[in-house]
Amino acid sequence: KNILLLCGGGGDEHSISLLSANYFEAQLATLAHFNVLRVELNAQGQYHTAAGELCELTNSRQLRFSDSDKTAWNVDYVIPCIHGYPGETGDIQSYFELINLPYFGCDSEASSNCFNKVTAKMWFSALGIPNTPYIFLNEFNDDAVKQTEQALEKWGSIFIKAASQGSSVGCYRVDSIDQLAKSLQEAFTFSPYVVVEKTISARELEVATYEVDGEIIATKPGEIICASNTFYSFDEKYADNSQAQTVIEADVDAAIAKQIQDYAIKAFKGMKLRHLSRIDFFLTDENEILLNEINTFPGQTHISMFPKMLQNHGHDFAQYLSNNILAQLQ
Ligand code: DAL
Ligand code: MG
Repeated sequence: KNILLLCGGGGDEHSISLLSANYFEAQLATLAHFNVLRVELNAQGQYHTAAGELCELTNSRQLRFSDSDKTAWNVDYVIPCIHGYPGETGDIQSYFELINLPYFGCDSEASSNCFNKVTAKMWFSALGIPNTPYIFLNEFNDDAVKQTEQALEKWGSIFIKAASQGSSVGCYRVDSIDQLAKSLQEAFTFSPYVVVEKTISARELEVATYEVDGEIIATKPGEIICASNTFYSFDEKYADNSQAQTVIEADVDAAIAKQIQDYAIKAFKGMKLRHLSRIDFFLTDENEILLNEINTFPGQTHISMFPKMLQNHGHDFAQYLSNNILAQLQ
């Protein structure tokens, strides 16, 4: 079977997607029954191979090369290893659905519901899963500034987040009124919807939640420990000198770990996720569990928690991948 490993994408997480694709490539290389072709989607929306050959994915599920002498490649399956747009936003999955091409991961609807912070929060609340107090805004105007000022006054410190960005892009912590309007305006340059959330003083726990043979598994929570007193920003995540530490099994009460795992499974089922996700929680100083966000295509870089938690739970990544792919290709 021919597997297209699609990576890159046009968003801010392009370079991270390439690192994650290295991991997928290495895992897939251990599976003899797949032919894998890695293709990168660049910021201009063009597809090209590692050798730089331009190509296109056609409606008849073929990869056609610009060099007309090169034979087209039939695609049986795609792994859209793309963080942020157009992978986690659900856009590229819509196209696969349209051309009837099976693919790995969450479908277009689940992806888009999770990616948009407004929709996601509405779902969390509807499912009865506690999440951070918030308001949302859909226009940068005097009233938006006023509402945000009131939120700041009430909560003491806030996060202003563009509704549809990943990896902490378009996300600003605001502690005083003088940075407020500027941060709000900046957030609106990333998305037409903005969420204002109460800053939570909490531990950050993450759960790899995924499917093995149709069964939904939620691992014990892992933990991100940030050295800086700000937050797990894009730089803090990926800089070579990142001070952030990851713990594969967080030191938490068994009952709390269990409750977090139950919420993760409830979210996975309720929001109709598929194959993989990393579900991120806060554990407040008062031992309150809050669902922070769902990543429908979590990173697989050297610092990423998803593959480590999956393996720590006793699953082999290549096998997990292979089983899910084969189940769809039957
Ligand atoms: N958005 C990054 C890739 C992650 O969640 O791991
Ligand atoms: Mg994320």
